[in-house]
Amino acid sequence: MKVLIVGSGGREHAIAASVAKSSKVTKIYCAPGNAGIGQIAECVNIGAMEFDKLVAFSKENAIDFVIVGMDDPLVGGLVDELEAAGIKTFGPRKNAAILEGSKAFSKDLMKKYNIPTAAYENFDDADAAIAYLENCSYPIVLKADGLALGKGVLICNTKEEAVDGVKEIMTDKKFGSAGNRMVIEEFMTGREVSVLSFVDGKTIKIMTSAQDHKRAKDNDEGLNTGGMGTFSPSPFYTAEVDEFCKKYIYQATVDAMAAEGREFKGIIFFGLMLTPNGPRVLEYNARFGDPETQVVLPRMKNDIIEVMEACVEGTLDKIDLQFEDNAAVCVVLASDGYPVSYEKGFVIEGLDAFTDKDGYYCFHAGTKLTEKGIVTNGGRVLGITAKGADLKQARANAYKATEWVHFENKYMRHDIGKAIDEA
Ligand code: AMP
Ligand code: GLY
Repeated sequence: MKVLIVGSGGREHAIAASVAKSSKVTKIYCAPGNAGIGQIAECVNIGAMEFDKLVAFSKENAIDFVIVGMDDPLVGGLVDELEAAGIKTFGPRKNAAILEGSKAFSKDLMKKYNIPTAAYENFDDADAAIAYLENCSYPIVLKADGLALGKGVLICNTKEEAVDGVKEIMTDKKFGSAGNRMVIEEFMTGREVSVLSFVDGKTIKIMTSAQDHKRAKDNDEGLNTGGMGTFSPSPFYTAEVDEFCKKYIYQATVDAMAAEGREFKGIIFFGLMLTPNGPRVLEYNARFGDPETQVVLPRMKNDIIEVMEACVEGTLDKIDLQFEDNAAVCVVLASDGYPVSYEKGFVIEGLDAFTDKDGYYCFHAGTKLTEKGIVTNGGRVLGITAKGADLKQARANAYKATEWVHFENKYMRHDIGKAIDEA
């Protein structure tokens, strides 16, 4: 079977590494990929939003199965176009990817189907939004409706801050057209947990839990990023939390989408907050999380292609999804200055240290192969992942492995998984 993966980050490298273990797969392509993915797949120089080229490439190369990793092409309808060309594809169609593509849509869905989430109002007019702020309690959360690289959420402590925030989103269009609409929602407190799941339109199978670290600096300071590190499982995702979510959130979401005529097939990523009043949905994503995937997939026992095919075919109920009884930690090595501005093009040394080391992974995010060797090519450069018998062991292993690689400007958080000590 020939597989094409669409995307170029650490998530796609982790997906590719999982696909490479499948007994069904003979060849992997990745568009556009990166230097690390290029070691296990053939990278094709086509961007994730170049739908016509992706369809043409898939036809010309008789691709049997396409996996779309990224949010933009999913929300833009790449799955629909590939399917229309007769190519089997893993991921939600455009009418279902809206679950991530529009926060206003997902909030209305949760309200209509009684799925626990923060109280909110949607706005498509800045004046109305500003008038509403008059009677809110603070802090309050502002969210641009559309995709904004994970940056479209503002937590405002005062009315003045919130008024400025509304203007940034809706008037100045800081997040582009993502800010044509916005959500204003209640501020909640609690630990966050990421839960990824496979969905076939009717059945949902939950993967092992994970926790991300979104802020750039230690102690959760600094700006929001795509994610600076993860651990899995989350010790805060208890049997009680699991039971609550199974009862009120997971299947309810899949059924709600089906009832709306938006059958969801692919990955639903539940961003949960464990509030004092119980788990609440912070957000949905319609794809694997990054860097969550880097700690979840290495622990999955199943053949990923079998599970993904079952999602496409509607036979997920036949799959017994299993994870190893261990733990994994991922520490992101970034370019100093990320997420604002940073230099690229520095040679990365020490990558060979990961060859044949069981339980250690060096997932590439922003890297590129040049005449000088593999160089940094983005804000998040590498995801250093290690497994261990438990979370503490995995964390020690991951931090040890961060010392094996070197590049100028190397930056990381030193407290990934610190929360483990409080569990
Ligand atoms: P989102 O993109 O919706 O996951 O939001 C990004 C981050 O903002 C989340 O991971 C939370 O840390 C924070 N956040 C989002 N919504 C809320 C909320 N209602 N209350 C408190 N924090 C929130
Ligand atoms: N790590 C969060 C995300 O993938 O959206």
